[in-house]
Amino acid sequence: MRKTTFLFALFVILFFLAADRRRAVGHPGPPTFSKEISRILQDNCQSCHRPGDIAPFPLISYRDAAAMGTQIKLMTKLRQMPPWKPAEGAGDFVGVRRLSQRDIDLIASWVDAGMPEGNKSDLPGPKDFGGDWVLGAPDLVLAMPKSYTPPADRDEYRCFSIPVQSNNDLWISTIDFRPGDRATVHHIVPYIDTTGASAKLDKDGTGFTCFGGPLIDNADVLGGWSPGSRPTPLPDGTAIRLPKGARVLMQVHYHPHFGQVGVDRTEIGLYLTKSEVKKQLHYDAVLNTQLFIPAGAPNQRIEGTMTVSDDIEIVSIYPHMHLLGKSMRVDAILPDGTVVPMINVPQYEFQWQGNYVYRTPVKLPRGTVLRVEGFYDNSDANTQNPNSPPKDVRWGEASTDEMCVALFGYTR
Ligand code: HEC
Repeated sequence: MRKTTFLFALFVILFFLAADRRRAVGHPGPPTFSKEISRILQDNCQSCHRPGDIAPFPLISYRDAAAMGTQIKLMTKLRQMPPWKPAEGAGDFVGVRRLSQRDIDLIASWVDAGMPEGNKSDLPGPKDFGGDWVLGAPDLVLAMPKSYTPPADRDEYRCFSIPVQSNNDLWISTIDFRPGDRATVHHIVPYIDTTGASAKLDKDGTGFTCFGGPLIDNADVLGGWSPGSRPTPLPDGTAIRLPKGARVLMQVHYHPHFGQVGVDRTEIGLYLTKSEVKKQLHYDAVLNTQLFIPAGAPNQRIEGTMTVSDDIEIVSIYPHMHLLGKSMRVDAILPDGTVVPMINVPQYEFQWQGNYVYRTPVKLPRGTVLRVEGFYDNSDANTQNPNSPPKDVRWGEASTDEMCVALFGYTR
């Protein structure tokens, strides 16, 4: 009796193993939308390519994807999509958006095979993007004082001065953002204004135009958002101090697609630290304010360095140039001469700048030299060149000026 049960079980196992093998070997056909492609799009594209979000078309249904097949193949092969600027091998960042070579190849063979839909029953369930405030309701929400409608015919960089209602210093562990009009809000950078200077520039709550920075002095960065980004809590025990009485100056980049814009009222959500604050997050920058880029120079190199005066841990990094910027990298040269690559952005685009958070903070001993190196194209060939004909360019916050700066968040 026992023996028969055993033999029966063995038979069942062998049967399924064989069936499984048959399935594996017996599926040499091209990838299908329902099976492979839909899953790649869910995991890597739909955070932006869904109705109402930043990308100009959705990539959800078979029809969506088939309509764009050739471009999808091209843009993923060139690694233009999903947009992710830092190159591999310099910095290990949170939230990396980089397709595996396998996924790129699957997309290519799917398109080459004529984009088969496959069997609808293979489709995954729809992906839940968690809506707004994926971490739950923030402790404090800072909203633009009034709603604002950006121009429909050009990009607008606008700063809004927002008061913070609090009777004491706030210690922030996570910052999240709720773009009002997801289709046009391209990035958000909030700054801490401890002097109240921003209130004078933003007289009626509808903001003021600001391109390269906040246009006020001594403004520390509070965070950064770009499409598709998710809130990243700071390491445990680390927090940002928002001093009592400070205002938040929020820079928003609006980018209209096909001349369409909506009404925006973007919000910042602050999550206060629940644990004891052991380390304060500070910001500093390695930069070169003496930069000079002669008219016509196609590949001008600008370097800036600083020496670290304490043992520090770098938590995040934010490379920043304007429209002439081609590439930027930051290296840390340790006292023993070892070079630690911090970040490398080989194809810089002003439209896709970002604040990158290290998966593990990078320890740098006192005496380390941080070096930022940017390359600039100030020739006619640069279609983004704001000066036609090209002019000599120096440091400044206007779109016709340049910057060479890497901001970084660190703890001591
Ligand atoms: C972080 C947001 C984001 C993610 C993630 C993203 N896209 Fe995009 N995509 C955009 C935006 C925005 C545009 C419009 C062009 C622009 O502003 O650069 C775009 C444009 C495109 C285009 C048209 C490009 C052209 O000029 O013809 C294709 C094709 C595309 N995306 C495919 C993809 C695919 C495939 C994925 C996933 C593998 C993906 N995108 C992931 C934001 C995103």
